[in-house]
Amino acid sequence: MNENQILTALKDICDPDTGVNFIESKALDIVECSDDFVRIRIKIQQPIYSAVKPINDSCIAELRKLSADTHFEILITELPQAPINRALLTEVKNIIAVASGKGGVGKSSIASNIAAAISKTGAKVGILDGDVYGPSQPTMFGLENAKLDAIQTGDGQVLAKPVKKYGIEVASMGFIVEQADAVIVRGPMLAGYFSMLFEQIHWGTLDFLVFDLPPGTGDIQLTLTQKIPLSGAVIITTPQDISVVDVRRSVSMFKKVNVDILGIVENMSYFVPDDMPDKKYAIFGEGGGARIAEETGSDFLGQVPFTMQMREANDGGMPIVIKDSDSITSQSIIEITNKIMSKVRKKNYETSQVPEMTISI
Ligand SMILES: Nc1ncnc2c1ncn2[C@@H]1O[C@H](COP(=O)(O)OP(=O)(O)OP(=O)(O)O)[C@@H](O)[C@H]1O
Ligand SMILES: [Mg+2]
Repeated sequence: MNENQILTALKDICDPDTGVNFIESKALDIVECSDDFVRIRIKIQQPIYSAVKPINDSCIAELRKLSADTHFEILITELPQAPINRALLTEVKNIIAVASGKGGVGKSSIASNIAAAISKTGAKVGILDGDVYGPSQPTMFGLENAKLDAIQTGDGQVLAKPVKKYGIEVASMGFIVEQADAVIVRGPMLAGYFSMLFEQIHWGTLDFLVFDLPPGTGDIQLTLTQKIPLSGAVIITTPQDISVVDVRRSVSMFKKVNVDILGIVENMSYFVPDDMPDKKYAIFGEGGGARIAEETGSDFLGQVPFTMQMREANDGGMPIVIKDSDSITSQSIIEITNKIMSKVRKKNYETSQVPEMTISI
């Protein structure tokens, strides 16, 4: 076994999200090479998690053709990150908003499950519930009575600490504002609460922060999206025409403030009865998600079925992706989340310089 054989075997291996060839881009490096053991390192743009398995599997498949007995190890690591160019949330690598112009379409349900699906890949995730008037994440994570604890940072600042549940960092307006008081929060008070959420919470290092936005396209949404520099927005709609109108407005709002639309998710696409999993009933109509995607030139990320399991999981305080990752609802959200992570990686490749690396031959 020599290094040339390995490089030849791996000459066509590319990044599954970007198509970048690892050998041509000098991202692949042979660390150790003997007849018994070969260790290869590949450096890729973050977030690496959803890409690790496909890259590992395709390398191993090619290398196995060289030798059936050698132990091959593929080490996939993160490229050094370009400095994060923003004043707020400097330790958070990627922030994605989950939004919709329309209320009740499942933003909070999808946001909690996207966070759960990202977390399952091994990435560090937080969820920020930006809804003052109707915070949902305390219910969806079973944290109705939680409060934010204080933490003293290295430089002596006292900040609030998110609440950790199922490995996910959660912060919600609901931990700050009592539900009964929320209706009277207006103007300057609201600005104060927002600054608390963004400036006074110590998230620590996160690969992803999922930002659950309140419904609508008014001042609150505009302020929130301008305050937090986003990697992009995921827009939720239902199949109905009535929701499509509001959702279109939401896409326009993000475009106006130069936020990338990562794609459209259609929730409640069809009802699947728990006892008849092969049946699909299009109770809210059909085609809204695909239509919005086409009209606005956005990607259609997929459909999420309307199921009792999902509703029960939401009310029961455990996202369905954590409770039952094999369910059809979870599978659809995991697939959508993988697409979102791939798009964020692709974007990170485009916006940062890939440093030259030398191949140790
Ligand atoms: N795919 C689904 N299957 C079953 N129930 C769902 C599904 N998606 C959402 N729900 C339920 O629909 C209701 C509304 O969902 P959710 O609170 O996530 O919407 P929202 O868009 O965040 O609402 P708001 O505009 O008030 O913030 C909740 O009771 C939730 O449990
Ligand atoms: Mg909500």
